[in-house]
Amino acid sequence: MSDLPALDFIDTDLDRIGEATGRVVVFLSKEGKLDRMARRVNRLTKGALVRFSESSRFQKLKEGEAVDLAFPAGMAAEAVQIVCLERRTRGEVARKAGAAIGKALGPSGALVLAGVQKGIEDVVLGALLRSYTFERHMTKDADALGGLTVMGGEVAAASGLLNALASGVFFTRDLVNEPSNVLTTTEFAARLEALGELGLTIEVLDEAELEKLGMRTLLAVGQGSESPSKVVVMSWNGGGDEKPVALVGKGVVFDTGGISLKPAGGMEDMTMDMGGAGVVAGVMKTLAMRKARANVVGLVGLVENMPDGKAQRPGDVVTSMKGDTVEVINTDAEGRLVLCDVMWYAQDRFEPVAMVDLATLTGAVIIALGHENAGVFSNDDDLSKAFLNAAASEGEGAWRLPLGKGYDAQLKSRVADMMNVGGRPAGSITAAQFLARFVKDDTPWIHLDIAGVASLKKESTFAPKGATGWGVLALNRMIQDRFEARDEV
Ligand code: BES
Ligand code: MN
Ligand code: ZN
Repeated sequence: MSDLPALDFIDTDLDRIGEATGRVVVFLSKEGKLDRMARRVNRLTKGALVRFSESSRFQKLKEGEAVDLAFPAGMAAEAVQIVCLERRTRGEVARKAGAAIGKALGPSGALVLAGVQKGIEDVVLGALLRSYTFERHMTKDADALGGLTVMGGEVAAASGLLNALASGVFFTRDLVNEPSNVLTTTEFAARLEALGELGLTIEVLDEAELEKLGMRTLLAVGQGSESPSKVVVMSWNGGGDEKPVALVGKGVVFDTGGISLKPAGGMEDMTMDMGGAGVVAGVMKTLAMRKARANVVGLVGLVENMPDGKAQRPGDVVTSMKGDTVEVINTDAEGRLVLCDVMWYAQDRFEPVAMVDLATLTGAVIIALGHENAGVFSNDDDLSKAFLNAAASEGEGAWRLPLGKGYDAQLKSRVADMMNVGGRPAGSITAAQFLARFVKDDTPWIHLDIAGVASLKKESTFAPKGATGWGVLALNRMIQDRFEARDEV
């Protein structure tokens, strides 16, 4: 597991600034006014900070960007990192500034001089998020990251919350980055069972139980794999006796396409096809760590889609738990076959007040929205708005796409109640339309197609190349804003 850097908040102690041996981070605003801590850095470095603040290099820096003053004379530090930031700034800019700190963080840690800087929580969260690396399969021993020590800020109370948020995101990223020979369905379930330590109730349903429940479409996807299919149910009961919010995730640990085999080029990317389940797991971890005052149940369908003598064939007709039959035209449209059974089970058992499913469902959503936004589909304008607002305030791109009868008609089958594909036009919408058939009339529902945002080929502001953890913060916030009990005043 990728560990978070240790987080520590300490009182102002100006003498420590000269003695700190790791990195020292100081904030500098465009007006160039130095606070007490910055003045100490300036004095120790014989005016370097002021000279930098008067330079054209500094004037060209954008807010949130940073420059290193390496091995400064007069200080024990490896580097003074000067971060360009206004004292009062928007949360997203503060997080970006934090990302510069997190990206540069090394084994010797950093002392962050909070001084009079506002929004230190966002700075620290950005730093934690961007400190993430995934090096567990590198044999050269990677040095553990040093800690993050924040001097003088008044946010010690927030450290538990910040750890909860970053831990959830790291958990998701680790799952998504893990190769499929390591993260089998069995290993995935074991990692979820370990969340029991945090007070979550974890149940693992095996193939015999899924068979009994009638989850034939889910089981059909996994029947060509040596790894047994599983459904894991994670419950967090932090609320009263109200019905829970249900989160449902696609957990295809590897998607070869099955008998409708994918081309070789790029197939390795399908290790991330459990991204939806990864986000559900990350959100549950965050909710438990911050002891959310809400009832939330997370369900993931864990399967592997392999070609094999036992694998399902194109043209097979299978019966879902709901009872509807599906003609499997393309075995590579497997995610919806997994989700439809888990979504039905979630509603049948929990009668959720709202249901959100997440899946790396279609390549078509990448054609539509690229890697900037996840596709959002919903049968409920209020819930959809609540999610879009939450995503916007966490800086996680999300864009609503339509549903409609005309699209649903594309799923009509000659031999069964529906086909599992609707042809090339509007591929993400017809996938959503397939899922919509498994949503009860009175269940407010959002489907998030995260194929374009779960894992990236380039580094992003808050993550190195690979898994992003997209959605953990947005869903956590939506639950907090809309479903959580508040203190009475
Ligand atoms: N897991 C893929 C979708 C995907 C593509 C995720 C690219 C991440 C990146 C999904 O199971 C799939 O294969 N979808 C097919 C559906 C088609 C057969 C209707 C697709 O998008 O091509
Ligand atoms: Mn597929
Ligand atoms: Zn898939």
